[in-house]
Formats: sequence, structure tokens, C-alpha cells
Amino acid sequence: MTRKRMAVAVLVLVLTPGLGRAEELPADLGKARAAIAGLGERLKSELMSAMASGGPVAAIGVCQTAAPALSKAAGDQGGLTVRRTALKVRNPGNAPDDFERRVLEDFAVKIMAGTPPGALEHSEMVTIDGVRTLRYMKPIIMADQPCSVCHGGALADDVKAKVSALYPDDQAIGFKPGELRGAFSVLQRLD
Ligand code: HEC
Repeated sequence: MTRKRMAVAVLVLVLTPGLGRAEELPADLGKARAAIAGLGERLKSELMSAMASGGPVAAIGVCQTAAPALSKAAGDQGGLTVRRTALKVRNPGNAPDDFERRVLEDFAVKIMAGTPPGALEHSEMVTIDGVRTLRYMKPIIMADQPCSVCHGGALADDVKAKVSALYPDDQAIGFKPGELRGAFSVLQRLD
């Protein structure tokens, strides 16, 4: 290892405290960051307008189809994969893998300790099936409106009925504003 590479490796370790297995990161995280920039706000405004026009039960359908579509659009733009995940999921297809679970748990601890969630992100180089891959995650924070209507402590009866019909194993209720609701998760293949 050259002195320069070693300096970079040490720097990366210093910048990612508490998370081992850190390797040298590409200098530019811009692509991964850009893929999810504004995505949370776009999802929120899609939900708000769907709820205003058709009510919350109709908006459940929007979150089901529009959210993955928006994530896909963001990913397609830069040749990345973008998904949403959480420790407690509504759709079992969004369940975290081991990497995502570890980072989500780390985000949750930091948010409970008072770190402003907007400042949190995590990136790490991993090898998946022999391909060097950048993994990047950023928290999705629970807001009062519109999120509480479908993820809060007291769901309206019609919302509750529709959600449990579509998602019999739903775990994504009882969240309070400001809590970690989940995260965007980006995979960028580098080879
Ligand atoms: C109208 C109901 C509704 C509203 C409002 C809503 N969601 Fe959801 N949310 C859902 C549904 C339905 C799913 C499952 C989507 C799927 O099948 O992937 C979901 C899934 C998610 C997921 C993916 C992980 C999982 O649980 O499957 C996250 C993260 C999430 N919502 C965050 C939010 C946030 C943050 C807000 C507020 C900005 C919000 N949601 C508002 C209905 C809603």
C-alpha cells in the first residue's frame, strides 16, 4: 500500500466511525446523492395531492405504485438502483438486507442521541458477486402530515381496513414525527 492509499484508507475509517469493513470510497459520491436528492419531497407532494383529490384510502394506491416508480426513475437516470427500506416495513418486499439493517440501526441510535437526521448519510464500498459496488443510504424521517395518516398511531378505520387488506403483515404503524421511518438505499456498480 502506498502512503497515499494508506492515508485515504485511514481517512475513510475516521469518517465512518462505528462501522467496520470500510474501504476506500470513490472521491465522488455525487451520483448516489443526486439520485435521491428531492425524492422524499417529491413523494410527499405526490401523496399530499392524491390525498387532497381522492382522500387517504385512494392515496394508499399512489404510495403503492408511485413510490417504487419514482425510485426507479431516479435510479434509471444515473444507472443506479434506488429502493426504500425500513426496520419496520409495510411491504415485506422492502425488508432490509444485512447491510441496510446495520445502517438503519446506526441511524436510529444517532437520531435518538440527538443528531439532526438531515445531516446523516452513510456510504461504503462492498463487493457483490465480484463487482465493486458503492452502497449509499440516507434516512427517511417520519413527518406529521401526510405520513401520520397512514403510519401514525391512530389510523382512521377505512385506512386501517385497506392497509391490512393489502398488507396483512404490516409493521409500519405507530411512528411519531421526527422518528426514523426508513431510508433510501442506493447501489452503484463501479466495475
Ligand atoms: C396514503 C397512505 C400513505 C401515506 C400518507 C404515506 N405512506 Fe408510506 N407507505 C404506504 C404504503 C401503502 C406503503 C407500502 C408501499 C409498497 O408496497 O412498497 C408505504 C411504504 C413506505 C415506506 C417503505 C418501507 C415500507 O414500510 O414498506 C416508507 C419508508 C414510507 N412509506 C415512508 C412514508 C413517509 C415518510 C410518509 C410521509 C411523507 C409516508 N410514507 C406517507 C402508505 C402511505
